[in-house]
Amino acid sequence: MRSYTLIAPAKINLYLEIISQRPDGYHELAMILQSIELADEINVQSLSNESICVNCNHSQVPTDKSNLAYRAAALMAAKFPEALAKYGGVEITINKHIPVAAGLAGGSANAAAVLVGIDLLWNLGLTKSELEELGATLGSDVPFCVAGGTVIATGRGEQLSPLPSLEPIYIVLAKYRSLEVSTAWAYKTYRQEFGSSYLRDPDNLAARAAAVHSGDIVKAIANQDAGEIAQKLHNDLERVVLPAYPQVLQLRELFATQAGVLGTMMSGSGPTVFALVESEEQAQAVKLQIRAAIPDQDLELFVTRTITHGIQVASST
Ligand code: C5P
Repeated sequence: MRSYTLIAPAKINLYLEIISQRPDGYHELAMILQSIELADEINVQSLSNESICVNCNHSQVPTDKSNLAYRAAALMAAKFPEALAKYGGVEITINKHIPVAAGLAGGSANAAAVLVGIDLLWNLGLTKSELEELGATLGSDVPFCVAGGTVIATGRGEQLSPLPSLEPIYIVLAKYRSLEVSTAWAYKTYRQEFGSSYLRDPDNLAARAAAVHSGDIVKAIANQDAGEIAQKLHNDLERVVLPAYPQVLQLRELFATQAGVLGTMMSGSGPTVFALVESEEQAQAVKLQIRAAIPDQDLELFVTRTITHGIQVASST
């Protein structure tokens, strides 16, 4: 039976601005998304029958139909029934390294890997934009996860416009294992507290989304200026998550005082906090300092770095 093993990188948000509420209930966003080296490994293998099954080494990850990777396979089966009949169903095995419910798009990256893997298993020859379009029906971050890199994302997060590739910037990530923030809760709370300041005029709205393209952080990315990028980090969702989760606020404040840290921010709807750091050595030192300040074993710390790609094939049989 044929199989592909794929690398599915996580993402951080260098920028997340909430512009307005959309008629579909989602929020109109302007974001800068960045792939990082921390990744899950996904194996997709053809089956002799037409079923879909998911295995995962992480106890918090469901292996039933609620798993986004399962839903990605079900979507491919529904869209390409002839390929399903010809090549059979798929067994998906997820080797999890990305923290779960963390604001790092782990589930979305897994789903993107399944789309890419099944495209290969079934010889479909889909283009990147066809895969992104399929991904958008699964979740707002899935299209980005397909090709990854450094990207401006607008609309729900599914309209992508690539930025120049960044030279690697070292990153320390901190996440409490037992702390999860619901993305739906974060957006709903933001709407309740700050919805009165949402833009309503369609012209203003388009102008605001377009403004991100000429913003300071985009200039800093074009100039490969890590220090300036770190100074311009922004995430509107911090306004609701930090007050509600004191542990996240504490991490945010602790990172800001560490030598070598260029800037710090919460990723997505949290609760992961990241710090951009000058060098790998300093990143390792920052990790040790945070561990010494918070010896709680519930706190997971990672040193990683920015990368320039999304899903990649590691091997095939
Ligand atoms: O698209 P995804 O399923 O990842 O989104 C999770 C939740 O986050 C949505 O159900 C919605 O409540 C919120 N969301 C939003 N606006 C976006 C993206 C997500 O309100 N652009």
